Amino acid sequence: MEIEIIDGSNIPRMGFGTFQITGKECIRSVEDAIAIGYRHIDTARAYGNETEVGKAIKNSGVSREELFLTTKIWRDELHPERIPRAISSSLKNLQTDYVDLCLIHWPVDDVPVADTLGAMEKEKQKGNIRHLGVSNFTTRHLQQVEQSGVRTITNQVEYHAMLDQSKVMNKLREMDMSLSAYSPLARGRLIDHPVLQRIGEKYGKLPSQVALRWLLDQQSIWVLPKTKSHERRVTNFEVFDFHLDEEDHEKIRTMDKNVRVISPEFAPEWD
Ligand SMILES: NC(=O)c1ccc[n+]([C@@H]2O[C@H](COP(=O)([O-])OP(=O)(O)OC[C@H]3O[C@@H](n4cnc5c(N)ncnc54)[C@H](OP(=O)(O)O)[C@@H]3O)[C@@H](O)[C@H]2O)c1
Repeated sequence: MEIEIIDGSNIPRMGFGTFQITGKECIRSVEDAIAIGYRHIDTARAYGNETEVGKAIKNSGVSREELFLTTKIWRDELHPERIPRAISSSLKNLQTDYVDLCLIHWPVDDVPVADTLGAMEKEKQKGNIRHLGVSNFTTRHLQQVEQSGVRTITNQVEYHAMLDQSKVMNKLREMDMSLSAYSPLARGRLIDHPVLQRIGEKYGKLPSQVALRWLLDQQSIWVLPKTKSHERRVTNFEVFDFHLDEEDHEKIRTMDKNVRVISPEFAPEWD
């Protein structure tokens, strides 16, 4: 597995996404992902599965230090006074003393970013969080992060072969942050894309594997594929034994890039 070293931490660049996997299926899926080799797990308070993720980690037999665990704080908990309770509740659910990464799940207009990050920074100093980050932040919101002076290591946003994220990516590079790509398979829309299919034939790989490799071949990008299926967890993980050549990168770079699969009514105006 490929690792990025950020602020002294080894961060596995592939994480297992757990959105919409709940209950016993979540326990089984996360246990299985860890058995396959995933060492980075992405959950959120809003997914309603932190308890199951915590159980799966305990059951896995892999030590907590070997795993990179992310959770996210929902929009109604971003007031600085609510942060300590949100974090202690997540730690209790996850049966752990710390999370490796805690993200602001979505930006809101009524609480200044600096205030939320300031409260999260205090949790970091207490040892409850190792790294801070944000999610669904536009370049405008990233400027607010910059002005806060609080170090954040990543912005988790939708990114895949059918969506342009160059503006956000440029801003993140300027801020020495990585981009965590959620919906890296465009929620399944890329799994039979003809361009990826043709490229895949050359490498003996599936279109889904080409889609993930295209992201991983770019610097400072992490990928968070989600699947309920054991077979697909395995194939999504089998992307560390090849690279796309420049010509294939170009073919994907020039695909139409205007498909956004996640845009709830409270989403900000995207870059
Ligand atoms: N920060 C945020 O606001 C945010 C928003 C969305 C997602 N996320 C994170 O990112 C993770 C991934 O995003 P996502 O779930 O939206 O999208 P995704 O990983 O792009 O796609 C998931 C969909 O693709 C299918 N799939 C996965 N691998 C496949 C394969 N190899 N072949 C065929 N189908 C496959 C899955 O179906 P099956 O399950 O049936 O296989 C599921 O329907 C989430 O779980 C979550 O952790 C974060």
